[in-house]
Amino acid sequence: MSAKASYSFEGKTILITGGAGDIGRATAHRFASDRANIVLLDLNAAKMADVAQELAQYKVSVATFSCDVTSSDDVNKAFASAIEQFGRIDYVFNNAGYQGLFTTTDEYPEDDFQKVLDINVAGVFHVLKAAAQHMRESGGAIANTASYAGVVGPPNMLAYAASKFAVIGMTQTAAKDLAPYGIRVNAISPALIGPGMMWTRQTELQAAVGSQYFSSNPKQVEQQMIDSVPMRRLGSLEEVANGVAFLMSDEASYITGFNLEITGGQ
Ligand SMILES: NC(=O)c1ccc[n+]([C@@H]2O[C@H](COP(=O)([O-])OP(=O)(O)OC[C@H]3O[C@@H](n4cnc5c(N)ncnc54)[C@H](O)[C@@H]3O)[C@@H](O)[C@H]2O)c1
Repeated sequence: MSAKASYSFEGKTILITGGAGDIGRATAHRFASDRANIVLLDLNAAKMADVAQELAQYKVSVATFSCDVTSSDDVNKAFASAIEQFGRIDYVFNNAGYQGLFTTTDEYPEDDFQKVLDINVAGVFHVLKAAAQHMRESGGAIANTASYAGVVGPPNMLAYAASKFAVIGMTQTAAKDLAPYGIRVNAISPALIGPGMMWTRQTELQAAVGSQYFSSNPKQVEQQMIDSVPMRRLGSLEEVANGVAFLMSDEASYITGFNLEITGGQ
């Protein structure tokens, strides 16, 4: 579907949060195929172990750490262990996230609103801070996973939109704060990506809300969503990973504070 530019990440190490999920896994494959060592962090230890096993084919070093990004303690411990094992971390893909419930603003539950902010905002902050403290000495590159929902607020996704707008804001501020240390900070904002868990979940849950914006039939919701983006198809997980590889690569050496949209358009 898309040509793969070849970057050499030989001798470099990338830490990926949400490394057991669809986008984290695809990005781990992409970087391992370009010779990077891989550090995966996720809540889901069993799925992370499966990804680590898949990565064995590339013959790079791979480590996994069970970690809840909502806990700064967990994040700091995982960073310390990874640094002890690999010496340094060159790239951080700050990607763990949760989509939240789908319902209208007047009905949005407070506990789920808080959960989304804890994972997508505080979690991203903890990882960003740990990465920045480590990279202050030798520079590096960070990519935060935002979303097209952080550019245009979609219906029925109040908490998710709030959290992803926040990720883009943190990206812009961190890019300015960390530039003096030679640390670049960018965001990546996937729109409709699939097949995958989030794509299936969002079409089913948007249909279930029964709002004026989408059909109540998930198959029709899929078509409505696809018809709203310029390329008139889903983006693949590999196309997201390719964007991350570009943002980390030396070709992007003057790019910071940028939000790479893949590909919105409503
Ligand atoms: N797939 C899409 O269509 C899409 C579109 C836009 C943005 N995104 C964003 O991309 C990122 C990755 O999503 P995905 O599609 O791979 O989803 P996914 O659900 O497959 O992966 C998310 C991963 O994050 C992990 N996670 C959740 N909470 C955590 C926590 N507290 N600590 C550590 N790990 C935690 C999960 O265990 C999971 O492995 C998310 O930030 C998501 O919001 C996805």
